[in-house]
Amino acid sequence: MQGHDPIVWNDTLVTGVDEMDDQHRILVKTLNEAGVKLSGNRDSALLEQITRDLLSYAIYHFETEEALMEEYNYQGVHPEDAASHAQQHRSFSAKVVAVREGLKSGTPISREDLLSFLNGWLVGHIMNTDKKLAAFLISQRA
Ligand SMILES: [Fe+2]
Repeated sequence: MQGHDPIVWNDTLVTGVDEMDDQHRILVKTLNEAGVKLSGNRDSALLEQITRDLLSYAIYHFETEEALMEEYNYQGVHPEDAASHAQQHRSFSAKVVAVREGLKSGTPISREDLLSFLNGWLVGHIMNTDKKLAAFLISQRA
């Protein structure tokens, strides 16, 4: 699979925490739609709108996960995992902000580079970092 191909939702992406999985499905759908909208399109107004929508949904989603971390004291039990998880959220947002700044200053990122980054980050983050958090939440809720 190429990094900019659509993400196919499958069971390996399921964390088992419904709130997280529901939002991850929306994120995957949003990314895949972005890929379609950007096909053969060099319209920077569209890229501006797509990255804005994506950033605002991603921030909302990160807040949901970080509220769950707070609620179950992830930081207290697994301080390193909690810190690196929050750090990954920050660096994702910073990268999208940098892409948006590049757009404004006339140095747009290519569709391929943008989608490779977004898809690669999301799949890697869900499979490793989010699954670790989910396993913790499930054990606390049991
Ligand atoms: Fe996360």
